[in-house]
Amino acid sequence: MKIIITGSSGFIGFHLSRKLLENGNKVHGIDSMNNYYDVNLKKARLKILRKYKNFSFTKTKLENQKKLNKTFFKFRPKIVVHLAAQAGVRYSIEKPRVYLDSNITGSYNIIEISKKTNVKHLVMASSSSVYGANKRIPFKEIDKTETQLSIYAATKKSNESMAHSYSNIWKIPITMLRFFTVYGPWGRPDMALFKFTKGILKNKKIDVYNNGKMYRDFTYIDDIVNGIELIMNKIPNKNQLGKFKNDSLSNIAPFRILNIGNTKKIYLMDFIKQIENELGKKARKNFMPLQKGDVKQTLSNTTLLKQITGYNPKTNYKLGIKKFLYWYLDHYN
Ligand SMILES: NC(=O)c1ccc[n+]([C@@H]2O[C@H](COP(=O)([O-])OP(=O)(O)OC[C@H]3O[C@@H](n4cnc5c(N)ncnc54)[C@H](O)[C@@H]3O)[C@@H](O)[C@H]2O)c1
Repeated sequence: MKIIITGSSGFIGFHLSRKLLENGNKVHGIDSMNNYYDVNLKKARLKILRKYKNFSFTKTKLENQKKLNKTFFKFRPKIVVHLAAQAGVRYSIEKPRVYLDSNITGSYNIIEISKKTNVKHLVMASSSSVYGANKRIPFKEIDKTETQLSIYAATKKSNESMAHSYSNIWKIPITMLRFFTVYGPWGRPDMALFKFTKGILKNKKIDVYNNGKMYRDFTYIDDIVNGIELIMNKIPNKNQLGKFKNDSLSNIAPFRILNIGNTKKIYLMDFIKQIENELGKKARKNFMPLQKGDVKQTLSNTTLLKQITGYNPKTNYKLGIKKFLYWYLDHYN
């Protein structure tokens, strides 16, 4: 199958591309290779992907509509998995404009070109952060999502709305995936596991927000990749109306929103303790208040994804942390 993956040099895009290439698909990656975090890490991921004969790549920003058009018309993907975005809640407070450009204009360009090239299924990254200040836990796709706390979350919510409108007018099948804190080997340097590990090893103080009183639904990368792969072939359509319980399928468009998480509550302090245990070293902690824009808790309900695909996340956080540390120590000597 011919698949375009945007953000292929990013954390999730790299793992997904590699898995799809291993399974014999033709993958065309798109990434700007921006310097939001260490470009060498992106280059190292891309170098691995370039070893596959069935991989091709275009370096471009999503904002460059001309280059996107050329790439799509040449490759003619059947499926598009749109993962490229300016990620990170905290950075969106410093640099909101970047989020509007990458996530709103960029995603609009992807939706528009997918329409023009008659893509059979567009799968797009959303985020658990769209649940914002919601109190009802675990989060379900059919819950109201009106209270985003950061511009990052607001751009993801607006992606969902834009995608729905296009799906309605042009009948493009679109699935939005709300990811819950993804971690694992080749993970992002701006995220907790990477920062904590680096800090502990370098004897530097680590920032622990909300004085450690928060929890996350940490989801291991292999479970995420597995979930995306399963959903790629489950194209939303109106014949499925009424088939699944608590379905988020739109009643007017081939459009669905799905949570993809591990469904376990992991307290931040337990997460840190596990890293300390594995490294055999105590962290020096700098307890801080809750960061602006941040949420205290996330927890997914993934019953819908399970009904549709049989999704069943397998990696608990202790094993996941261990696997990350193996990679980290090896990669950074
Ligand atoms: N990792 C998580 O925990 C998590 C959680 C929720 C949602 N998400 C979403 O999943 C997707 C993938 O996240 P990730 O963790 O792999 O992030 P990542 O930053 O590692 O990957 C994103 C990639 O997109 C590229 N990119 C960014 N802006 C671009 C632009 N304007 N044009 C072209 N390329 C651009 C970057 O260079 C990067 O390689 C993102 O949409 C993110 O918002 C991730």
